[in-house]
Amino acid sequence: MKLFKKGAEADLYKTTWQNSKAILKIRKTKNYRDPSLDSRIRKHRTIKESQMISFVKSFGLPTPLIYFVNLKTTSILMQDIPGKPVHDLPELKIIELSKEIGKLVGLLHKNGVMHGDLTTSNFIFFQNTVFVIDFGLSQNTIKPEDHAVDLRLIKEILNSAHAKIMLSSWKNFLCGYKSVVGNAYYAKITKLVSDIESRGRYAKVV
Ligand SMILES: Nc1ncnc2c1ncn2[C@@H]1O[C@H](COP(=O)(O)OP(=O)(O)O)[C@@H](O)[C@H]1O
Ligand SMILES: [Mg+2]
Repeated sequence: MKLFKKGAEADLYKTTWQNSKAILKIRKTKNYRDPSLDSRIRKHRTIKESQMISFVKSFGLPTPLIYFVNLKTTSILMQDIPGKPVHDLPELKIIELSKEIGKLVGLLHKNGVMHGDLTTSNFIFFQNTVFVIDFGLSQNTIKPEDHAVDLRLIKEILNSAHAKIMLSSWKNFLCGYKSVVGNAYYAKITKLVSDIESRGRYAKVV
C-alpha cells in the first residue's frame, strides 16, 4: 500500500478493493491526548464519518462510496475520487466552483447536517462534479448557530488560503448557498455570521 497523503488527523493510502481503486484513511494516535480519550475520539470520528458520508448520499450529495469500516484500526476504506482538491485548482476555477460549493453546503444544512470542517481541501473536483469528504467532525443539527459556524469557517479559509480571490469566491459561495436554503434562512444565517464576527473572538473578515 502506498502512502498517498498525510492529513491533519489521518494517513491516507492508495489501495484497491475488488478491482476498484480505493483509499484507506487511518486515523492516527495523537500522543498529546490521554490514550483512552484518544481511542474514543478516533472511534467516534470514524463512525461519524462513515455514517455521514453514506447518509448525505441519500439526498444527492456527491461523496465517495464507503467499502469497509474497521473500528479496531479506526480506518475507513472508501472509493478513490481521483480528482484534485479544490484548494489546488487555479484561482479562476476556485471562484467558479465556489457557487457549487455554496449549493452543496446549503443542501447539507437544509438536511440538518453541519460539516464541521469546511476547507477547500475537503472538496474534490472530479469529472465536472464537486465531491465532499472528511465528515469526521460533522453533526446532525438544525441549529442555525451551528450552520453559521460552518459558513464562518469557510469564509475564514477563503480569506487566509485564497486571499486574492476571497471577495469573488465568497460572493459566489453565498449566491449558491442562498439559491438552496432560500432568502429567509440565508438572511438569518448571514446575520449570525456577522454576530459571531462582532463578538470579537474572531476577527471580522472583510
Ligand atoms: N476518497 C478520497 N479520494 C481521493 N482523495 C481523497 C479521498 N479522501 C481523502 N482524500 C485526500 O486526502 C486528503 C486528506 O483526507 P481527509 O479525509 O480530508 O483527512 P483529514 O481529516 O486528515 O483532513 C484530502 O484533502 C484529499 O486530498
Ligand atoms: Mg481534510
